[in-house]
Formats: sequence, structure tokens, C-alpha cells
Amino acid sequence: MKAVIEIDGKRLEYPILEGTRGPKVLDIRTFYKDTGMFTYDPGFTSTASCSSDITFINGEQGELRYRGYPIEELAKSHRYSDVCYLLLNSKLPSKEESDEFDNELRHRAFIDEGLRKLFDAFPRTAHPMAMLSSAVSALSAFYFDHLDISEDESFQEMSARIIAKIPTLAAFAYRRGLGIPIIQPDIDRYFTENFLYMMRAYPGGKFHREVGKKAPTTIRDIEVKALDTIFTLHADHEQNASTTTVRTVASTGAHPYAAISAGINALWGRAHGGANESVIAQLEMIGDIKNVDSFIKRAKDPNDSFRLMGFGHRVYKNFDPRAKILKGLQDQLKDELNLDSRLLEIANRIEEIALSDEYFIKRNLYPNIDFYSGVILTALGIPKNLFTAIFVIGRTVGWVTQWMELKKDPKAKIARPRQLYIGK
Ligand code: CMC
Repeated sequence: MKAVIEIDGKRLEYPILEGTRGPKVLDIRTFYKDTGMFTYDPGFTSTASCSSDITFINGEQGELRYRGYPIEELAKSHRYSDVCYLLLNSKLPSKEESDEFDNELRHRAFIDEGLRKLFDAFPRTAHPMAMLSSAVSALSAFYFDHLDISEDESFQEMSARIIAKIPTLAAFAYRRGLGIPIIQPDIDRYFTENFLYMMRAYPGGKFHREVGKKAPTTIRDIEVKALDTIFTLHADHEQNASTTTVRTVASTGAHPYAAISAGINALWGRAHGGANESVIAQLEMIGDIKNVDSFIKRAKDPNDSFRLMGFGHRVYKNFDPRAKILKGLQDQLKDELNLDSRLLEIANRIEEIALSDEYFIKRNLYPNIDFYSGVILTALGIPKNLFTAIFVIGRTVGWVTQWMELKKDPKAKIARPRQLYIGK
């Protein structure tokens, strides 16, 4: 299949590429050479920057798959570490492979003492994302390997190391904010449980003992399952802003952890991963169900920069499938985790109005993943300034998988867009 473009009477033919699924893609790689013209696409709304076999999204139907597996199935029936294995290895692990990978993550979760000391230098008021991105950048100083990408083993080591250490670094950032001593990982705990342990335990690994209760407060299975599902839902999302950042930095040949640190910074913004923190801040600002209407009015006003956080998506023009799963989880956990009923009431009212309002319907603005994650994270005792770090923990596997795909792609080039110059 070909597309014919006529410019100043000159007829040019360009191949149309077909993937396994998704829209066809016009291959314009020779366009500048042929015509001396660039294409113009700010925000890359019509541009495929690479080919990939990791994640598929059908935004019109609200479909998301990792390595061909629907997100609904992965969230329901597989733990997060197995989803990581799937993304990295293109197949779900056997029982033995699953145990082995889980064990590797436990062993690699520890942090070099020198890197731990970095946290002492941050002010307690520092945002956890600032500490996390700096610590991941510093990680490249501690593991300055020159990866041989023909060696799958060195890739596996690099990936497992960063996936395992990110929760530890996020927990360090959290505890630094409180000014309390950090807790090193417990090798006997699974990835997600370990993160909650590193957040909650007292120095020495003990838990708070509630007055009048015999057993010390620990970590409930239902909490681990909820957070594990949240990590799975965030694991990858094809060529979003942070992944594109990781690929762009990787395309220059920089250290993989430097690329991931750049991805963390890209994620921080409120239009992207930072939206989860902003959603709860916004719900708290609205404060009462009676104020919802006036905020909806502001969101619709073209002269007001106010946006309803947790609504809209560049790709999903239907319900975000991750949001659907989280809404179900919210309903399921409402009583068991004692979700904040005031915030839920405000959120439900916003959702109800937005889904029936002409402004939102016309623009296909549906609730996204960030609209629902915050209420659950709050019930897990996670403060809102740590929400985006939770997104980072889940997404790191996606970034390393995409990093490797780029490195193995013989067609990959340094990312170098051009511009429409309008200056003097
Ligand atoms: N509230 C009110 N109006 C909105 C919103 C919103 N949240 N999102 C988009 N619009 C309007 C926008 O004003 C524009 O209207 P008009 O056509 O009249 O100018 C129209 O919808 C299209 O918006 P856009 O900004 O051109 O769309 P985009 O694809 O460039 O942006 C977005 C997508 C996610 C950045 C945007 O919807 C947004 O800012 N949402 C709020 C932040 C948010 O929840 N982000 C999390 C995304 S999901 C997590 C992740 O994967 O990163």
C-alpha cells in the first residue's frame, strides 16, 4: 500500500506500513530528502516515533494490552513481579521462573551506604520526586557498567537492579520527609509488601502496637493486593511523555539509569503522572459536594486555565481501562480499607456530572487512571506527595523494557526533531 502526495505538481509516493494492530502508518522517513520540507506535528499527535511490540492501546475502544495480554486479566490473575517478567521477557513466567525472579528482586533491593547518605543532604521539605530522580541519577555513579547489549544477562541485571531498588529509594524519600531513620528492605518480604514495610515499620523492623490490641499492626494481604494491582496498571503505556523522554535520552547513548531519571522528571508534571497528586489536592480544595458545580463551571470556561484533574487523555477517547479496574477496586475496598467517604462522595459527583455534560462528552473526556488511584493510596496510608513516586515504582519496568527495545532496534537513530523557524 502506498500514499501519493503531490507538491508543486511533483508526485511523490510513500509506503504505508501496517502493524499487527492499530492504525496504519505513513512512512515519511525520506520526506525531507525528497522535498526539502519538514512535517509539522507539535505534541506528536500524529507521529509514531518507533515500532514496538511491548504494549498495545486501542484508545477508541478503551483497550490496553502488555505483550498481547489484556490488562484486565493481568490485574486480576497475576502478581506485579510476574507482570514485570512478562514485559521484560515477552512471556509469563513458569512457577520456577517466577520464584527465581522474585528472589532476584529481593536480593537487589538493598542500597549502597553511600547512596543512602545522599538522602541526609536533602531538606525534609524536598518533594519525594526530586529526591527520587536525583537518587536514580546517582545510581548511575554506583553502577557505571558499560552494558553489552548483545549480552541478555547484563540487560537482565541492569533491569532487575533498578526495578528492585526504586521502592527502597521511594521509601527512603518518604522517611526523609518525616525525618525518621530509614528502614532497609526485608529479604523475606515480597516486592510490594516490602515497600509498605519500608514505609511503615519502626527502626529495627518493628510495627506500631495499637493500645489495647494484642497483635502488633502489620501489613494486610488486601493492602498488598491493592497496591500490587496499582503497580500492574502503571507498568507500561507505550510512547507517553516519560517513555519518550527515556527513549530520547537513551538514543544519545547515555547511561540507562540517567535515562530513567529523566523519565522520572518527565512523569512528575501534572499533565502526566503528577496528576494523581493533583486529583486529591483538587478534591480536598473542592471540599464539599455543594462546591462541585462551580468547579465544573471553571473547568469548562475557555478563559480559565483550571482543568479537572484526572480527566482526559491523549489516547483514550473512551473510558481508560485502567480507570475502570481501579473504580471496581475502589468499590470493593470501600469498607474493608475504610476509604475516605467525603472524598469519594465529591469524586462520584464530579464523575456523574462530567459523564453527562455536553462539554466533556463532545471532547471525549473520561476519568483516567489518576482519578481513582488517589483515594485507594490515601487509605493505604500513602501521603499525596508520594503518589507520583508510586507511579514511578510501577512504571520503571516499562521504561527499562522500552530502553532495551530501542537499544536492540537496528533502525533506531538519535532523537532529533526539526522546527518551523519563526524568529528574526
Ligand atoms: N478538564 C477540562 N477540559 C479539558 C481537560 C480537563 N481535564 N482535558 C482536556 N480538556 C479540553 C481542553 O481544554 C481542550 O478543549 P478545546 O478543544 O475547547 O480547546 C480539549 O479538551 C482537548 O484537550 P487537549 O489539551 O488538546 O488534549 P491533550 O490530548 O493534548 O491532553 C491531557 C491530554 C491528559 C494532558 C489533558 O486531558 C489534561 O490536561 N488532563 C488533566 C491532567 C490529567 O489528568 N493527566 C493524567 C493523564 S493519565 C496518566 C498518564 O498516563 O499520564
